[in-house]
Amino acid sequence: DVPKRVQLKEVGPRDGLQNENAFIPTAEKVKLIDCLSETGLDYIEVTSFVHPKWIPQLADAVDVLKAIKRNPNVTYAALVPNVKGLERALESNVDEVSIFMSASEGHNHANINKSIDETFPILKEVVDGALAAGKTVRGYISTVIACPYDGYTEPAQVLRIADKLFEMGVSEISLGDTIGIGVPTQVDILLKELLRYFKTDQLSMHFHDTRGTALANTVVSLMHGISKFDSAIGGLGGCPYAKGASGNVATEDLLYMLQEMRIDTGVQLDRITDAALSVEEVIGRKLSSKQVMIAHGG
Ligand code: HMG
Ligand code: MG
Repeated sequence: DVPKRVQLKEVGPRDGLQNENAFIPTAEKVKLIDCLSETGLDYIEVTSFVHPKWIPQLADAVDVLKAIKRNPNVTYAALVPNVKGLERALESNVDEVSIFMSASEGHNHANINKSIDETFPILKEVVDGALAAGKTVRGYISTVIACPYDGYTEPAQVLRIADKLFEMGVSEISLGDTIGIGVPTQVDILLKELLRYFKTDQLSMHFHDTRGTALANTVVSLMHGISKFDSAIGGLGGCPYAKGASGNVATEDLLYMLQEMRIDTGVQLDRITDAALSVEEVIGRKLSSKQVMIAHGG
């Protein structure tokens, strides 16, 4: 059955701003996150503690986390690739740590400079450290449908990695269609396989919308009972280390659909759309989500 309530996990400040060419000033990031904190969202991925040479756009992660006004109803999360990143994340008192790796060797290597098997012990150290510090940990698996370097991904490979991450102690896995290449039949096959072993509330879907299939993929996921979705205001987003990756599904477009489907999210569409409109000024270009275009008069 389609769930009656869905949780939206806003990843715009992280997945979105990591993919902008320009460095957005720290104060602007803080303003955006503070604004998102008042939209009804209860989960915001705010930044990442990766190597600043790899993602200079988010080099101010500590400053951002220290400056935001925390709404007690919101979980503030950040990406952490290794123990070095974890130190900075804990210093910033992040609520939830998100570890990440890919289902394909090609993207894993391009993105975090390791083979898949070399990655597990590094992430295990992060999970152990985060859990010991009282944080929850979320795990991302990228390229779950296909990889820009290796082609299509076998669901069995996603399952193998998901198993390892749950074994480490992550509470949830976000399945990333990193390059927005998937279609509903592929998502259906993947979820049928994974839901033989895991519960719907252990999974979140992370659709990029490169080819306009994200909402269709969302509907298939809903029909499997999935109730957590990652999205980015304005349809910002993309991974600089995945050739051809563009924006995440836009929070406001996803929200419009869920609202009209009578699925509760607790998030206010007008406030999200306003936040997206204010981002246009910050990044200096027009965004192309449907709701933003409607707000501009069609
Ligand atoms: P590496 O160069 O292999 O790192 O990078 P290393 O462990 O060999 O260390 C080299 C040097 O970097 C050392 O310094 C470390 O201390 C330092 P030295 O001793 O030479 O002076 N270092 C660090 N400094 C600061 N913070 C750190 C850190 N780690 C090492 N955390 C690494 C490996 C993973 C660090 C690098 O490849 C990296 O940062 N990659 C991140 C790439 C990234 O952020 N990609 C985008 C996010 S993933 C994504 O967007 C997909 C997702 O949205 C889901 C989806 O759509 O599918 C999540
Ligand atoms: Mg992503």
